[in-house]
Amino acid sequence: MPDLFTSLDLRETTLPNRLMVSPMCQYSVDARDGLATDWHLVHLGSRAVGGAGLVMAEATAVEPAGRITPQDLGLWSDEHRDALARTAAFVREQGAIPGIQLAHAGRKASKSRPWAGSEPLAPADGGWETIAPSDRPWPYDAGATATRAMDESDIAGLIDAFRAAARRAREAGFLVAEVHAAHGYLLHEFLSPVTNERRDAYGGSFEDRTRLVREVTQAVREEWPDDRPVFVRISGTDWLPERDAWTVADSARLAGDLADCGADLIDVSSGGISPDSHPDWTGPNYQLALAEHVREATDIAVGTVGGITTAEQAEAIVRNDRADLAIVGREFLRDPYFGLRAADRLDARDRSPVPEQYERAFER
Ligand code: FNR
Repeated sequence: MPDLFTSLDLRETTLPNRLMVSPMCQYSVDARDGLATDWHLVHLGSRAVGGAGLVMAEATAVEPAGRITPQDLGLWSDEHRDALARTAAFVREQGAIPGIQLAHAGRKASKSRPWAGSEPLAPADGGWETIAPSDRPWPYDAGATATRAMDESDIAGLIDAFRAAARRAREAGFLVAEVHAAHGYLLHEFLSPVTNERRDAYGGSFEDRTRLVREVTQAVREEWPDDRPVFVRISGTDWLPERDAWTVADSARLAGDLADCGADLIDVSSGGISPDSHPDWTGPNYQLALAEHVREATDIAVGTVGGITTAEQAEAIVRNDRADLAIVGREFLRDPYFGLRAADRLDARDRSPVPEQYERAFER
């Protein structure tokens, strides 16, 4: 049996296989109110039908100012919880595990959608003031969106917002909560010396820069049932070797600390902290070495994401013990049934049954 289609136990939650749909913003909320729509049900539901073991919903803002765009999902009221419950239930009915990424976009909030240029939105155009550890905007010359350095009460409010969103995600029926601490969004902005210029308990040393991520992870863990896993997505590196920036050694150290806070898996991505913080090359497995580094340095389970497009490639990652979970983004946009096709190619159809409704299409 291919290792990709072996189950993965995290606490008392069993992922039926090692394929996860990466969280991907859909920018598809209609009313600028953060409520899930039919798009989210169909989009996430299709990938559960399509054989993914874990379907992770997109970056979901814990408060309105934490949205990247006005069309992002939110989870700051019970109405938001109720709008998402149907999607979580449908994913479960397909035998997949529903997860949700809890997020705050920090200084990268208040933008138009990618297909409208990802431009900073001025308040007159529906934008808002962004918050960050320090008051430098993204990008550096952004005039339209003011960025304010968070004070102590903002920080306390943020931790509470993550806690409340975790409670609502639990009530909505999600089985995995992922804290988004990557890609230059708010929690990563605290981690990285590139964006964190604070001189209080939340900036300066490694311990102080990582304090907020640890406190948020602990708050989510407190709300999350003991039998369900918590993931944290990090940027394994800032890709800025010439600067005082976040490194893979920092990531390995943080992973151990997050395990102590009750995290169960580190989802290792990279980049995003500044416009020049990205890998030179984005081919197959382009972030796998980062995940491997974290995995070798700690006992915590690790997922790798980036450039995984074939069944054989995902199988090799798991079989060669390079990561516990193969996380697939864009290939799952191109092919919602990537999981079913992978099972077919690897001769694991018994482990990943085609829905009865589709059986005739998969006959040999
Ligand atoms: C993303 N990505 C992303 N990452 C994340 O942590 N939260 C998110 O909400 C999003 N949103 C998002 C939207 C879209 C349309 C894309 C294409 C990407 C990044 C994504 O999860 C993944 O890490 C990268 O796409 C790299 O993986 P692939 O695409 O090479 O498999």
